[in-house]
Amino acid sequence: MSGLPRPAGRPAIGDPRPHEAAAAHVTGRALYTDDVALRTHGVLHAHPVQAPHAHARVTRLDPAPALQVPGVVRVLTAADVPGVNDAGIKHDEPLFPTEVMFHGHAVAWVLGETLEAARLGASAVEVDYTPLPAILTLDEAIAAESFQGARPRLERGDVDAGFAASAHVLEGSFEMAGQEHFYLETHASLARVDDDGQVFIDASTQHPSETQEIVAHVLGLASHQVTVQCLRMGGAFGGKEMQPHGLAAVAALGAVLTGRPVRLRLTRAQDMTMSGKRHGFAATWRVGLDAEGRLQALEATLTSDGGWSLDLSEPVLSRAMCHVDNAYWIPHVRVDGRIARTHKTSQTAFRGFGGPQGMLVIEDILGRAAAALGIDAAELRRRNLYGEEQTTPYGQTVHDVGRLHRAWEQVLTSASYDERRAAITAHNAAHPHRKRGLAITPVKFGISFNFTAFNQAGALVHVYKDGSVLINHGGTEMGQGLHTKMLQVAATALGLPIERVRLAPTRTDKVPNTSATAASSGADLNGAAIRDACEQVLARLGPVADRLRAETGQEPAWEELVRAAYLSRIQLWAAGYYRTPGLSWDMVAMRGNPFKYFAYGVAAAEVEVDGFTGAYEVRRVDIVHDVGASLSPQIDIGQVEGGFTQGLGWLTLEDLRWDTGDGPGRGRLATNGASTYKLPSLSEMPAELNVALLGPDPEPSRTQAAVYGSKAVGEPPVMLAFSVREALRDAIGAFAATGGTGGSGAPGCGPVVELASPATPEAVWWAIEAARAGAGEGETDDETSTSEVSGTSGVA
Ligand code: MTE
Ligand code: MOS
Repeated sequence: MSGLPRPAGRPAIGDPRPHEAAAAHVTGRALYTDDVALRTHGVLHAHPVQAPHAHARVTRLDPAPALQVPGVVRVLTAADVPGVNDAGIKHDEPLFPTEVMFHGHAVAWVLGETLEAARLGASAVEVDYTPLPAILTLDEAIAAESFQGARPRLERGDVDAGFAASAHVLEGSFEMAGQEHFYLETHASLARVDDDGQVFIDASTQHPSETQEIVAHVLGLASHQVTVQCLRMGGAFGGKEMQPHGLAAVAALGAVLTGRPVRLRLTRAQDMTMSGKRHGFAATWRVGLDAEGRLQALEATLTSDGGWSLDLSEPVLSRAMCHVDNAYWIPHVRVDGRIARTHKTSQTAFRGFGGPQGMLVIEDILGRAAAALGIDAAELRRRNLYGEEQTTPYGQTVHDVGRLHRAWEQVLTSASYDERRAAITAHNAAHPHRKRGLAITPVKFGISFNFTAFNQAGALVHVYKDGSVLINHGGTEMGQGLHTKMLQVAATALGLPIERVRLAPTRTDKVPNTSATAASSGADLNGAAIRDACEQVLARLGPVADRLRAETGQEPAWEELVRAAYLSRIQLWAAGYYRTPGLSWDMVAMRGNPFKYFAYGVAAAEVEVDGFTGAYEVRRVDIVHDVGASLSPQIDIGQVEGGFTQGLGWLTLEDLRWDTGDGPGRGRLATNGASTYKLPSLSEMPAELNVALLGPDPEPSRTQAAVYGSKAVGEPPVMLAFSVREALRDAIGAFAATGGTGGSGAPGCGPVVELASPATPEAVWWAIEAARAGAGEGETDDETSTSEVSGTSGVA
């Protein structure tokens, strides 16, 4: 369109800009939901009545004593709910339960003039319980056949034939832990009611539209009577995708019943004991490889720990199953999935959304298989990487996998992998009590929501008469830099300096029917919607620009153009919309093209482990990550560093413990604060962390990507941390090799090392003990170990 005003100057995308609110974050100027509460007059404070049992029936609940406590205004119970007494979308999450399903479950809420009054009121509410038997661990759930939801199967090829044709067949099983989100801002909502009965809620939510829906159904209102705003979140990581809804509904119910603003903000201990976490998984597997170590067949059962209700457990399990291949071609595959119901918090989305759990299975398998087959682990992984045009077990072609191979080569070079491997071998030969390990691992992660309908987004772009621009979109800001990127997209699309564009907070009355900001797709979806709106406005401005050029013989300035367009009665604002093309997904058959493209990354990690204690340090990590043509390189590198670190925490430090004993505390979350739950901090960061973004393709047009050629970045980097776990395995193996070759004797190959997840120093120490004890045997008859079922060689 020649008539379009031409974007002048440098495009804003690709600029290494700081986060749009970075200064506000670090100076304390940035407003979060609870800051708004503090600025609101006449606010009531909500406090939960938490049950002291993992499973129990509520036989009596008497709020009367609480009402005697000075400052207590009201006690909310099931009897107060005018609509549906349910906090979720599956109708399996009573908001005010009569059956306690986990230790800490809120059975009632107390509203007080102060938080202290509400707290004292909550402890005065009298509740009688009949305790019931509780299922806590995956083993208990499997033994009791306590499952919930669908039990999908993903299948390709002929698994039996694949095993028959394999030179090596290995089997094993292991469990991986869940993870606490530990966002800095705990769950928070502030609800108000206006003179017309409209409910307005500020909430720390990744999914304002769904918070709106749940609040409406709890209150028995239509969606147009409820507005949800999310100013920003102080971290969410998937934990605010579904979990905020019931809490917002409690605040809204309180506001409707009292006519006063109600603030609900969980303390850290409440947040940790009440809100869902990453799913722990158990996996049993059998794998077949040919004589060269090429994967032939995989059979696996993944059992996730869903906690007390389904929440997002089904889609999390789907993504886990769709990522069990990680970056490797496996011709014959059969994976079964099931979700355990346990008496714990309802486990939920967490960065990677099941992908990390699925991928950990194949990385664990390859880590063990390398030693069993006597093939260097890096070489074994490289041999199995997808080639161009191969397909995933669910039938999607792995386009652009050349980018993954390029990242792999780049890491080997930039990390001086081979030289360091040699140096580590020399170091380990000279140091009996401190061993170093090195590993390189790939990431392939599918981008789009598996649930096809979620792959749509909307935006509003307003151009005012003075030429300034206000944008609004359906995505939420949780620290990931989405708003920064959206400003860059709008400025680029309109050809304006970024300062001319402002972004307004997310609200359901601006852009309706939005999807959760999740699946890393926030920038892909909302960016495309913003670009659509900008292009609509530009298309309308085109003829006006032509007229002005003809009149003046000059390119009109933006302000002049906008003014002239307004006077000519041209609409200066637009609603943009986008839906991802080309997606298909049959969730029963587990087949289709659920992803628009794949994001890739590669990491190499070096660790040093102390043989007396199992303590270790991460000496160096080198990452090359694929974000396509970066919209905002500084933001993207921050996401890669943050995601990697969160993955490091999950795999090596963070250790959720519930009381699984038979005492009165059964089911209590023992790690309910930062004092008992170990998070990564500066001292656990790699001494050297090098992050590079993979450069453009020789033929960039071939790259499958989203807005302006960019790729999503939010979740994939989590799984770069597999490199650290595998480096630990490598170092542990070296302890066994002392005084002999151990295992196969190949470089970087010790005995088969089994490593618990998280690989805490304690777990590492036990693995060293096992490796030392098993040195020279290479195989144990422990039922959970890797055992070679049939085959020709490899195990010493
Ligand atoms: N980064 C920060 N700083 N805080 C967060 O809460 N959440 C992650 C990731 N990066 C998160 C984050 C998760 S779980 C997802 S799905 C994406 O950001 C969501 O945002 P995006 O789609 O805009 O990438
Ligand atoms: Mo992210 S787990 O998809 O919110």
